[in-house]
Amino acid sequence: MASRRKISRVPPVAEDALGRPLHDLRISVMDRCNFRCPYCMPRETFHDNYEFLHSADRLSFDEIVRLTRLFVAAGVRKVRLTGGEPLLRSNLADLIGELSVIPGLDDLALTTNGILLAQRAAELKANGLKRVTVSLDSVDPEVFRQMSGGFDGLDRVLDGIEAAREAGLEPIKVNAVIQRGINEDGALDLVERFRGTGVIVRFIEYMDVGSRNHWEPERVVPSRVLRDRISARWPLAPEASAHRGEVAERYRMIDDGGEVGFISSVSQPFCGDCTRARLSSDGVLYTCLFATDGVDLRGPLRRRADDATLRELIRGTWQARVDRYSELRQRLRREQPLRKIEMFYIGG
Ligand code: GTP
Ligand code: 5AD
Ligand code: SF4
Ligand code: SF4
Repeated sequence: MASRRKISRVPPVAEDALGRPLHDLRISVMDRCNFRCPYCMPRETFHDNYEFLHSADRLSFDEIVRLTRLFVAAGVRKVRLTGGEPLLRSNLADLIGELSVIPGLDDLALTTNGILLAQRAAELKANGLKRVTVSLDSVDPEVFRQMSGGFDGLDRVLDGIEAAREAGLEPIKVNAVIQRGINEDGALDLVERFRGTGVIVRFIEYMDVGSRNHWEPERVVPSRVLRDRISARWPLAPEASAHRGEVAERYRMIDDGGEVGFISSVSQPFCGDCTRARLSSDGVLYTCLFATDGVDLRGPLRRRADDATLRELIRGTWQARVDRYSELRQRLRREQPLRKIEMFYIGG
């Protein structure tokens, strides 16, 4: 009998113009936030009269699920829900329930400021969320207040992290953006607070995202400086990356205190392995965190484009991608002041 070749029905993963596969999708489900971190949504701009999107402008859950399926067909295996603050989106757990059953999606995570997490953690887990990352820049109540734009919410965020741990939304990561002269001295306290709990603290170099956060290179504390300080107190040993394109360099405290990570997008850009696409809450696809423009998917979606058309739009956009902003930062900043998309809108 003639051997019958098995024809694979799995479509090939989309690769960009620099050979980087599409692997992660970060979906901003809500452009609003209940914090006003000065490095992200400075209050002078994002005041009470600031016009955020109207709810009809935001993608509906059905639209997000449909697009996610199409992204999975183009290679995406990991989805991260972000904002603004994603827990401000009503019924978010329903969306998670629908995303978590998409075949081929291996990882479903959420980035939150943690203030609403305590009351939601169990429901999120029950609906299929795998893990959470909580943005927390300081465990000093006064510094926390300053860095969140005036909120006394530290205890609620810590309760949120504890609830996530109880619910099993693990591994839990804490992301701390470190700024020289503001919260740099609290880095060791952050490590100490979470040592032995299984929570992984990751330090992020302050970046020039958007156009409104008054970024200056002098405000960046290079990861190596922090790593040396931490290592002097709790000696660190490097760990291998968990996967290609992992943004954090991982270290383990050799006394078994746990893991810490460093995200060094300013001092050691990682564009070469960047496999991340971003979808804004109103359905624009961006291929870089520092993009100045993107490709509208909501328009064709609402004009009833069929799956094949949308799939081609996603694939074609990714295949044309040449972004590597962090590697070119110095030149790009010198040559042309860019009007970059704001981080709360594009999703960190
Ligand atoms: P894990 O899968 O848990 O490792 O996390 P992740 O890769 O989804 O990273 P996460 O969303 O926790 O990113 C942490 C921070 O790293 C973000 O808030 C950004 O500040 C920064 N970051 C993440 N992705 C990129 C990227 O593509 N480019 C740059 N320049 N920074 C990024
Ligand atoms: N530089 C680095 N990280 C930032 N984030 C927001 N703005 C910046 C910035 N300018 C991070 C937040 C959060 C995630 C959503 O993005 O701390 O962890
Ligand atoms: Fe909100 Fe996160 Fe931006 Fe802070 S960094 S204002 S918590 S979206
Ligand atoms: Fe990716 Fe752009 Fe960040 Fe480079 S700067 S890692 S291309 S998102």
